[in-house]
Amino acid sequence: MSRKLFEPYTLKSLPLRNRIVMAPMTRCRCAEGDIPTPLMAEYYAQRASAGLIISEGTPVSPKARGYLWTPGIYSEPQLAGWRAVADAVHSAGGRLFAQIWHVGRVSHNSLQPDGEAPEGPTDEQPQDAGCFAIDADGNPGNVPVSRPRALDLDGIARVREQFVQAARNAIEAGMDGVEIHAANGYLFDQFLNAKVNTRDDAYGGSVENRCRFLLETLDQAGAAIGLERTGVRISPNGRFNAMPEDPEMEATFLYLAAELDRRGIAYLHINDQATFGMPAIPDGLIPKIRAAFHGPIILCGGYDADRAHGAIGEGFADLVAFGVPFIANPDLPARLEHRWPLNEPDRDTFYGGDEKGYTDYPFYQPE
Ligand SMILES: Cc1cc2nc3c(=O)[nH]c(=O)nc-3n(C[C@H](O)[C@H](O)[C@H](O)COP(=O)(O)O)c2cc1C
Repeated sequence: MSRKLFEPYTLKSLPLRNRIVMAPMTRCRCAEGDIPTPLMAEYYAQRASAGLIISEGTPVSPKARGYLWTPGIYSEPQLAGWRAVADAVHSAGGRLFAQIWHVGRVSHNSLQPDGEAPEGPTDEQPQDAGCFAIDADGNPGNVPVSRPRALDLDGIARVREQFVQAARNAIEAGMDGVEIHAANGYLFDQFLNAKVNTRDDAYGGSVENRCRFLLETLDQAGAAIGLERTGVRISPNGRFNAMPEDPEMEATFLYLAAELDRRGIAYLHINDQATFGMPAIPDGLIPKIRAAFHGPIILCGGYDADRAHGAIGEGFADLVAFGVPFIANPDLPARLEHRWPLNEPDRDTFYGGDEKGYTDYPFYQPE
């Protein structure tokens, strides 16, 4: 079998020790003020044998938040926290990108500054969408999202600038690059979706208009830190966060792939939500995206070593990201390479809490 997954790879000019990526995963364990903690630095450093770690989603502003205890990337104390995380990962020989994030319409007033409404492409409130916030009894829990207000053109410009500043901040904090989160039903995915984005201005309607916000943001972030250090994550056909089926899905993502190709970005990261219990990416779409986008592709969603080898061997993926397996196995690359058994993940400790289910998963001890 090919060993490519375990061999070094150069991402643009960034040398990686292998083609294994730790997928971005929100773990809701940061300190008051949305500040990354020393425990988070330990958690990421434990997983630094991945070729590349993509951080949990990191909100670009207080209004970008959709969960309690997610680490921001806009205040000085947050940057100091990220600097410690980046130093710990680098000391352990790893690489770290920040996933920069705005949840858009899937948030709750209690998470917003001054209890304001969340902001999205329109003021339509998604049905059956929840977020992790303070409930009516004042306790942390899953609550229905609040009615958003539509971003106006000034709002779009403000959010775009916040992403650019977040990209600068990530580099200032010593991280190796950023991934713009355009997947999983959050802000940019909401703009991409023809059913959700019913705006009638330059940011809604046609495929070009629905992609405009993401591409403008990418271009400006890229101008600030280098497009070769800026990746993008998408989840074609995703339904997470109450996203509706989009009849223009394929046309949208193929247009986007071609636009990303022209820009020479760090990578295109494609998440299949099938492991979330959602519909999979339709057969045949990944090869079409591959034909349109010639840069590095990361595939994610339900991979094991054999599937990863297959995807790399067929040329659809250059790197493969693993999510849940990395939660439970800090030494996942060695376990995959040597076919050692995997620890079982404890789903009760995925979001929130302390070191339990976070930094206490054992490394494999060979006999
Ligand atoms: C606890 C948890 C938190 C996650 N948080 C994020 C996130 O912050 N950003 C994101 O793009 N995806 C997030 N995901 C999705 C993962 O990145 C990944 O796409 C998903 O787990 C599928 O990969 P897997 O089958 O290897 O686990 C999260 C997944 C889990 C399990």
